[in-house]
Amino acid sequence: MRHRILVIEDDADIATVLRDRLETMGNEVVTAIDGQAGLEAFEREAPNLLLLDLELPKVNGMDVLRRIRKNSPEVPIVVMTAHGTIARAVEAMKEGATDFITKPFDTDYLKIVMAKALERGELKQEVAVLRAELDSRYETLQASSSKMADVLQTAKKVALSDSTVLLLGESGTGKDLLARSIHAWSPRRNKLFMAVNCVALTEELLESELFGHEKGAFTGASAQKRGKMEVADGGTIFLDEIGDMRPGLQAKLLRFLQNREFDRVGGTQTVKVNVRVIAATNRDLQQAVKSGAFRSDLFFRLNVVNLTLPPLRERTEEIPELARTFLKKYCQEAKKPMMQISPQAMKMLTAYPWPGNVRELQNAIERAVVLKTGEIVMPEDFALQPMDLTPEQMEGVDRQFHDAVDHQKRLILKRALARAGGSQTRAAELLGLQRTYLSRLIKQLDVT
Ligand SMILES: Nc1ncnc2c1ncn2[C@@H]1O[C@H](COP(=O)(O)OP(=O)(O)OP(=O)(O)O)[C@@H](O)[C@H]1O
Ligand SMILES: [Mg+2]
Repeated sequence: MRHRILVIEDDADIATVLRDRLETMGNEVVTAIDGQAGLEAFEREAPNLLLLDLELPKVNGMDVLRRIRKNSPEVPIVVMTAHGTIARAVEAMKEGATDFITKPFDTDYLKIVMAKALERGELKQEVAVLRAELDSRYETLQASSSKMADVLQTAKKVALSDSTVLLLGESGTGKDLLARSIHAWSPRRNKLFMAVNCVALTEELLESELFGHEKGAFTGASAQKRGKMEVADGGTIFLDEIGDMRPGLQAKLLRFLQNREFDRVGGTQTVKVNVRVIAATNRDLQQAVKSGAFRSDLFFRLNVVNLTLPPLRERTEEIPELARTFLKKYCQEAKKPMMQISPQAMKMLTAYPWPGNVRELQNAIERAVVLKTGEIVMPEDFALQPMDLTPEQMEGVDRQFHDAVDHQKRLILKRALARAGGSQTRAAELLGLQRTYLSRLIKQLDVT
């Protein structure tokens, strides 16, 4: 593969030799003769690899290294030092150099060092791309109500500490998203965030998922496996649905929270890690403690800081903005022209009680976008249940109101027709209506 390599070297003879060798290997080579010219060439050429002499006029090599590392953490940099100046090379490695070679160098050795450095650079870039892609799969947490703003303010403060956080709130209120956000706001943001769902697995599998296992610990454990606690070392572990964790594992988790140490399943050696714990549940944990389903000592360990996400019906002022964000997202995903929500439909969305909270709103909008062909989303495009509305919520919600009235009319007509043995004349008498009006209604409301 052809790479673009920048050589910053003030000794013209060495630079020429390097250029020849690198070009023979099939690379494109750019050279610069001092630190200043090197920095400029780096900006201009965006090389895949930098070969950097440490003794340079104008801006010295170590400063060039520092300046480039500030903005380009991924590009591999191999420093070149004279024999007997290993201390300088070590210093350069501390400043972020990928590797070093000493002059004069052997071509084979140069090849190996370069190949390794290039591979590392590519991997780093790949990780950065994947990480960005992963991040973009999650929504940005929106919080336009004062209730949510309060929660977020506290969340941002605790994010800076290592304290255990317990997230409470109904299903779909955003606990998962908030846990990820706390990690992203914390100094641990460049380490891993690992989520474990405590209901999805059996107790044995969950224990192994969390703490790992040794080879032969149970049937099927054919090799040692590190658990998520170990993999997340330095980062954050998110224990979702903690309220459903079985008592045996609760005891092991308690030990971990007390000492930050655990044994792998079937292991005898204690493993110590530095992991921040965030737990979430939509259950009433205090109730679970009272009923004996959840250990009270574990509850207290988890409940160092607790944040409760209010249900969507208690922060209806956020609905229009959330609805518009989801509308935009799903229009883009479905490759449809940007739609708008009619004022009436928005009124209805704001009045609806949203038992499934933000997730339900998101789903309702996705469904409307997928099924809609026009550009204005109307109340009937949302398949919301009119029966879920309380009478006062129905006020002003015209379409829903009419639907409900029609439904009632149909029931009354059906009942009257049944009592009249199917005779429309008799049914009209029973209802005190003109016979012609009754037939019109029957047709209009499609009564069968
Ligand atoms: N404030 C918000 N801004 C933007 N999107 C949100 C917000 N709150 C929730 N969402 C979205 O709503 C959906 C549900 O949120 P999330 O999964 O975090 O809920 P949860 O509280 O973990 O629910 P459950 O208890 O059912 O696991 C997600 O797709 C999330 O991205
Ligand atoms: Mg969740």
